[in-house]
Amino acid sequence: MDTITTVAAMQAEADAARCDGRRLALIPTMGALHDGHLALVRHAREQVGPEGHVTVSIFVNPTQFGPGEDFDAYPRTLDADREALLASGAGVDAVFAPEAREMYPFGLPPLATVQVAEMGWYLCGASRPGHFDGVTSVVTRLYLACRPHLAVFGQKDAQQLAILRRMTRELGFGIEVVGHPIVREEDGLALSSRNRYLSPEERRQATVLSRALFAASHAAGQGERSADVLRSAMREQIALAPQARIDYAEIVDADTLLPADTLNPQGASGGRYLAAVAAFVGETRLIDNVTLRVG
Ligand code: PAJ
Repeated sequence: MDTITTVAAMQAEADAARCDGRRLALIPTMGALHDGHLALVRHAREQVGPEGHVTVSIFVNPTQFGPGEDFDAYPRTLDADREALLASGAGVDAVFAPEAREMYPFGLPPLATVQVAEMGWYLCGASRPGHFDGVTSVVTRLYLACRPHLAVFGQKDAQQLAILRRMTRELGFGIEVVGHPIVREEDGLALSSRNRYLSPEERRQATVLSRALFAASHAAGQGERSADVLRSAMREQIALAPQARIDYAEIVDADTLLPADTLNPQGASGGRYLAAVAAFVGETRLIDNVTLRVG
């Protein structure tokens, strides 16, 4: 497993693998790897087969953090991440871990960015303006450095996945975007690099996010079709945790991410909706979601 730190060296490695007829997979991450990330890496290996080439990128991308967010505090654990990848059994070929000046060679803010319209403005985009422009801009640069055939992203960041799917098709990268289900702790909490910020009491209360989503999912399964009723049910659950402060508790169309009114089997996404929540638990902002299928 090579650690590659320059764009030129990464492109040379990718080109050599392509010349050998190998399929290339990329798993973009910001490091502080946990079992959710490792599940993506294993899934990528299954997709490209034993002869394929798997790259994990580790880069804490400054352009997707807003002022006052946790860019400086974000955990940087490259040695432990390398160990976790070696132990994962996924047979990772390369870790691409560039410095910021490699990804943004003309400094910050960059001149050239990829901006996303409506899909990037609501849900997380409403409280994190510019966040998704940072994500699409860095993923574009990672695509150009790593030249993959496919890229794997987690459903944990459902809005990010929907936006990247759309961007990848719209700009014609010729890269297949593969989604992977959310990996959870036994008590339901979605794994996240930010969970390590939680105190033991906050960690206990953090389970209200998944409980709220499972309650919405159960209600939809029982026939509830009013998005507002489901939103209220989620809010009530989250309000049970005194240290949790809701950012949003939404029901949206699974593909367009537009707010839903009535869950409809004939809706735009064929009856697929997303129940999505974001909440601060203490100082830590957590997100989670479940897919609702009706019809
Ligand atoms: P990061 O938060 O490190 O996540 C990297 C990938 O792992 C994302 O696709 C995310 O959805 C996925 N992931 C995280 N926790 C998961 C879980 N519990 N189950 C399944 N997948 C999970 O997302 C980013 O980094 C960045 O925005 C990035 C795309 C790398 C661009 O900088």
